Order: sequence, then C-alpha cells, then structure tokens
Amino acid sequence: MPVILAIESSCDETSASVCVDGAILSNIIANQTIHEAYGGVVPELASRVHQQNIVPAVQQALFNAKVSKNDVDAVAFTRGPGLLGSLLVGVSFAKSFALAKNIPLIEVNHMQAHVLAHFIGDNKPAFPFLCLTVSGGHTQIVLVKDYFDMEVIGQTLDDAAGEAMDKTSKILGLPYPGGPLIDKYARQGNADAYKFPEPQIPGFDFSFSGLKTSILYFIRDNVAINPDFIQQNINDICASVEKRIATILLHKLEKAADAYGIKDIALAGGVSANTGLRQGLLALGEKKGWRCFIPAMQYCTDNAAMIAIAGYHKYLKGEFTGQDVAPLARMPF
Ligand code: KG4
Ligand code: ZN
Repeated sequence: MPVILAIESSCDETSASVCVDGAILSNIIANQTIHEAYGGVVPELASRVHQQNIVPAVQQALFNAKVSKNDVDAVAFTRGPGLLGSLLVGVSFAKSFALAKNIPLIEVNHMQAHVLAHFIGDNKPAFPFLCLTVSGGHTQIVLVKDYFDMEVIGQTLDDAAGEAMDKTSKILGLPYPGGPLIDKYARQGNADAYKFPEPQIPGFDFSFSGLKTSILYFIRDNVAINPDFIQQNINDICASVEKRIATILLHKLEKAADAYGIKDIALAGGVSANTGLRQGLLALGEKKGWRCFIPAMQYCTDNAAMIAIAGYHKYLKGEFTGQDVAPLARMPF
C-alpha cells in the first residue's frame, strides 16, 4: 500500500495531496489572491507566496489523510511545465523531504497529470482515448495510448483557451482569473446574442488570438456608441464568448475523434470547469455515441491529487528521479 505525498506548485496554486494505494485521501489547495489586482499571475509574487504556503499545505494534507511524515513512501512533484520560480519551491521542498526521510522522488509532468486526473476514482476511460486539455497555458488534444504514452495531436498556435477567457475578462474590466466570472455571467445570458468568428485552422490545431482581437474591437466600437454597453450586456457578452470558445474546442475534438475512430473522450485542465464547455461536450457526446469523462471540479484546476495519481502509477513502474533533478519551465511529454 504505497503512501505518496504529492506537491504541485507550477503556477499560482500551492497544493499538497496524499494518496494511499491509488486512493486520494487529501487534496489541499492554497489559492493566491495577490494576483487579482494585476490582471494576471506575477511570477515573482507567486514564488514568494508558494514559499509561505508550502509547509502548511503539506502539514494539512498529511493531517487530513491521517498519515504521519514517517509513513510516506515516496514524494511526487511537478517538475514542469510552469513558472520556473514557482516550480523551484515545490521541487526544492520535495527534494528536501525525500532526502530527510531517505525515500524516493517521482517527477511528474503537469500536463500528463491533468490527463491522469481521470484515474482518480472508479469511472476511468479506456486506452486509447482522446483528452482535450484546456488550461491557462495550454490547449491540447492528446491521444492517450497508456498512462505515460501520450501524443499531442493538436494544440494552440497562439493563445490558450484559458488565456482567451482571461484576456476577454480583462477587456470587460473583470479581475483575474476571469474564466470563472465569464462562466458565472454566461449562465444568465443569451449565447446567441453576439456572433464572434470561428478561425479556420487546418488539422486539429487551434488559434484564439483572432477571437481576442475581434472581441476587443467589438467592445471598443460598442462602448464608443454607448459607454454603459458592457454593464448593460455583460451576461450576453459572456455567454456569446463562452459559446464561441466552446464551439472552437468541440469542433476540433469532434474532427479528431472521427479521424482516430475513438469514442472515449475526456476533458481536463482549468477550463474544463466551464459550464458551457461541459454541457457542450455532453450534448455532442450524446449525438456521437461517445463515453464522456469530465473530472470533478476540484480536479479540473491545478491540484496535487492529479500529481499524486500520476506519481502512484510511476511508483508501480519503479520510475524514480535522482536528487540532481531541476525544474523545467518547458517540458514536453
Ligand atoms: O489548469 P489551470 O488551473 O492552470 C493552468 O495550468 O493554467 O487553468 C487555469 C485557467 C484560467 O485561465 C482560468 O480562467 C480557467 O482555467 N478557468 C475557467 C473556469 N475555471 C477556471 N475558465 C472558464 N470557466 C471556468 N469555470
Ligand atoms: Zn494546469
């Protein structure tokens, strides 16, 4: 019954989780509110807050799991991709803990972990499946052949889907991160009120920068006519933007699923918390005869439970990392 302590610190969440024999017993997530005023994550501030949060987050994760430090068999941590200063805090903590307790280290790729969040609990997709991983930094269609055998078959050429959400919310004068706020306002709005363009990109790749520019001009032109345009129409604007982002994602996912003949389809990453995208996937899945897999909310945005489950499967394979490991801002599969 391996006991794994997992650490996630790639962006602005400090998270720690304990997994015993593949079951998640705790998942502590300390969010950073300091970035709200800046309209995006400030890397230097993020690493400082990680330093403050990491020890209490780990203590709480062990306490909630009723596990002592001495029971831990291995420490899994996010090696990358992410903000280097943020990663450094988690990597250094994991290395010190493993050194102090003389236990192995397990490095985890954050993007693979988002996919492997689907192996928490009993409702698991079957290999091979497709996973649409949509976060603040990435938009990928991943062909998942096995736990650690994954191929990115489509990705964004510019902005990520979460970035499109966050940049739109910034244009609307909303605080960071804007994705959850767009989701909230969209629930009260008419998604067909405004039409934004769908980019024509070949293959399974995405582009969101043109959409961002069209939203920017749309808002600028309407505010010039009516200074209260945003306040009066915030629900319809958010619903229309959300619908367009979701349809861009789902059209490509459908194309990839058809091309590969795959019917197990999963969603992962922070934007998979989005209500419109979740509902859109379920409706499309019903039409296409797919089995759809959507993570529980707490496993959509960044969390250490997904690092723990990835670490558990590496532990079973005996894949450990040396003390000379360093974080990687960019880390391909
Ligand atoms: O995976 P994640 O937590 O962090 C990264 O690895 O980037 O994703 C964060 C992104 C942000 O862009 C945030 O605005 C977006 O996920 N997000 C949402 C929602 N919740 C988080 N976007 C739309 N609707 C949501 N409910
Ligand atoms: Zn993430």
